[in-house]
Amino acid sequence: MEKREALFEAAAAARRHAYAPYSNFAVGAALITSSGAIFSGANVENAAYPIGTCAEAGAIAAMIAAGERQIAELLVLGDGAALTTPCGACRQRIREFAAPEAKIYAAGPEGIRAAFTLAALLPDAFGPDNLQEKLT
Ligand code: THU
Repeated sequence: MEKREALFEAAAAARRHAYAPYSNFAVGAALITSSGAIFSGANVENAAYPIGTCAEAGAIAAMIAAGERQIAELLVLGDGAALTTPCGACRQRIREFAAPEAKIYAAGPEGIRAAFTLAALLPDAFGPDNLQEKLT
């Protein structure tokens, strides 16, 4: 299966398990690492609204738990007329583990609608490199 197709299928499968009773906006995300492994996540809302988590955060947590660190590409899948792109906080979460050139796909139920680079979504980002001198 082609990489983007595999990402779409993984995001769609995760989205079917989304827990979004408050917004009724189910989201699925899937990422592929530099080693070719795919991890997915769904949004998990909460009665205490602000602590709900995004699909992207779930996919990143799954990647880290499996011992991987490098996001090559990520796809986010949501419904509706407007494009579902990662929220601002998730752009920063992705930045931690992805290069500026990493591809980010925005998809609807019918397939991929748009492709961006991370740098296009989060220009001049603050990231791990900024703290390199402090860490060494
Ligand atoms: N949401 C995501 O999971 N990812 C996105 O990229 C956009 C928004 C979720 C958060 C919340 O559960 C619901 O969508 C509505 O904002």
